Amino acid sequence: MKEKLLALKEELASSIKGCVSIEEVESIRINALGKKGEITAVLKGMKDLSDEERPLIGKIANEVREELEELISAKKGELKNAEKLVKLSAETLDVTMPSKQIRIGRRHPITQVFDELKYIFTGMGFKVAEGPEIETVHNNFDALNAPKNHPSRDMSDTFYFDENMLLRTQTSPVQVRTMQVMKPPIRIISPGRCFRSDTPDATHSPMFHQLEGLVVDKNVTMAELKGTLQAFAELFFGPGTKIKFRPHNFPFTEPSAEVDVTCFKCGGKGCSMCKGEGWIEILGAGMVHPNVLRNCGIDPEEYSGFAFGMGVDRATMLKYEIDDIRLLFENDMRFLNQF
Ligand code: DAH
Repeated sequence: MKEKLLALKEELASSIKGCVSIEEVESIRINALGKKGEITAVLKGMKDLSDEERPLIGKIANEVREELEELISAKKGELKNAEKLVKLSAETLDVTMPSKQIRIGRRHPITQVFDELKYIFTGMGFKVAEGPEIETVHNNFDALNAPKNHPSRDMSDTFYFDENMLLRTQTSPVQVRTMQVMKPPIRIISPGRCFRSDTPDATHSPMFHQLEGLVVDKNVTMAELKGTLQAFAELFFGPGTKIKFRPHNFPFTEPSAEVDVTCFKCGGKGCSMCKGEGWIEILGAGMVHPNVLRNCGIDPEEYSGFAFGMGVDRATMLKYEIDDIRLLFENDMRFLNQF
């Protein structure tokens, strides 16, 4: 019996050594040491042994079982390690490889200027009002007192959908929309996109941006308009900036003015930026025409108001010294990353 046990041990030990998978080792373990295993069967046969032989054989059997158990667990450990190595080498990570470039976006210069304008005017008590880019001819022209024969209404100057709808040519229709739903006191600015059928060049784009302003209340005078724009000019272009009103004509204001600021580059002496003038035109403004107030259901005998409209692309170009409006809309990251 002793020989049988030792032979069985040798045989099992060599097959354990030859195993290439943990499953194989496990099946050998079950076949040898399991309930119905070969070693177990030998041990079960011990009851037939004599009293002298039994402790001897029992000792050998226990040693054989222990040795086999050790071999099995060592082999399992070895195979587990090998598996891990295979897995690791399949998943190698080259830490010297260049990483993916993560580009952080930034706000477009026009958006930055709009944000700054909103900050300045909301600080003076203005609220931000929005209007649609697709407007009625009525809001864009008629309600704003723009006569039927005004050149800006021409088919070749404006994008019409049909005779009643168009792409707004200015943010001024937001004045109309606001006055139709709000009672004075009204103090709003309205940033937005406008459209005119212009051929693109360095200073023209068929799509551009404006900031509209409107104040309607009792006893509003041109002094408030001047004070507001003076405060704005200093905040936006820098301390010491002066403003100048030049008489002009807009259908929706009376009197009307074009407003210039002292050149913020030369301070008014004259340079290439202001073309030697010392002044730069930045917006149109005026006192809201009584017809406009009336068209929007506000009594011009009781209320008066002022309005202004600024070209935001132009303001952005001046502020950042951009010499071609088209650069703003090409979305070339090399350009945009500079702001
Ligand atoms: N809407 C005018 C334009 O596009 C700009 C403008 C001028 C707006 C005078 C105003 C204003 O509100 O009072 O040329």
